[in-house]
Amino acid sequence: MKPKVYITRRIQSEGLNVLEPFCDIELWEEDRPIPKTILLEKVKGIRGLISMLSDPIDEEVIANAKALKVVANFGVGYDNIDIACCTREKIRVGNTPGVLTDATADLAFALLLTLARRIEEGAQYVKEGRWLSYSPTLLIGKDLSEKTVGIIGFGRIGQAVAKRAKGFGMRVIYANTSRKPEIEDQIGAQCVFFNELLEDADFISLHCPLTPKTERLIGEKSFERMKKEAILVNTARGKVIDTEALIRALRTKRIAAAGLDVTDPEPLPQDHPLLKLDNCLVIPHIGSATTRTRGRVAEMSAKNILAGINGEALPYPVNMIG
Ligand code: GLV
Repeated sequence: MKPKVYITRRIQSEGLNVLEPFCDIELWEEDRPIPKTILLEKVKGIRGLISMLSDPIDEEVIANAKALKVVANFGVGYDNIDIACCTREKIRVGNTPGVLTDATADLAFALLLTLARRIEEGAQYVKEGRWLSYSPTLLIGKDLSEKTVGIIGFGRIGQAVAKRAKGFGMRVIYANTSRKPEIEDQIGAQCVFFNELLEDADFISLHCPLTPKTERLIGEKSFERMKKEAILVNTARGKVIDTEALIRALRTKRIAAAGLDVTDPEPLPQDHPLLKLDNCLVIPHIGSATTRTRGRVAEMSAKNILAGINGEALPYPVNMIG
């Protein structure tokens, strides 16, 4: 009998093809997160689980999954998984680092450019039939070149954003838990203190993981330090920003604008105050959503599963099981 693997959404065939010869696969086919009550039933007897970042894999789920050997998160962030609990239960956890770096950095830059150059407003203006002539004063935006981008979290994705920023002629500063001198030299980025970054940057882009230390890292006090013209971009996790403080900062024009691929809560309800603000652009967590990247994410998740169900070290591990 093949080992049972549950996947909490239909993933790309690149992943399914890896698993099919070796596993008995069941999928959650609906295009919404699997309800917790159903997940609690589905994990009974499975050896491997491919989970989405929207699925909390907590003590309760793990307690129901007595045969579980491996959880492969479909993505790089794994704040949805209780890693300590998995490790205690000798369940391997894997993710998909590296493969989505460029796609996510591209999207951060797309948000930055869209806001700086008022692309959304421009498109709307044309669609509404208001474009009657060339105008020297129409939709004046912000330059990127010679401006400073502040990158919070200087891992793979933060560094990829830095490289893009350099290509646009920007000055790059970053704040991170540790200094990266080699990368600084390579890219021409400068490490600064967190508060200095907030005060100095014209554009701020968030690329830190969500941890107890980074939860609500950007709150009232941070907004007070930012420039009035600052544009904030978040492609990391919604909870890194204190949403109430962000709403106030945008409403009072304490900062110029925000571009969010991730929010807290996620998704945002239709009547959420952020969606009523002209200076806030929200897109639905699509940082890694390109054909090639998602195919690779699916494949890497599947490879983590295959190793885990065989009791082997994962190719892309998050925890270590002795
Ligand atoms: C997406 O947000 C990911 O963590 O891969």
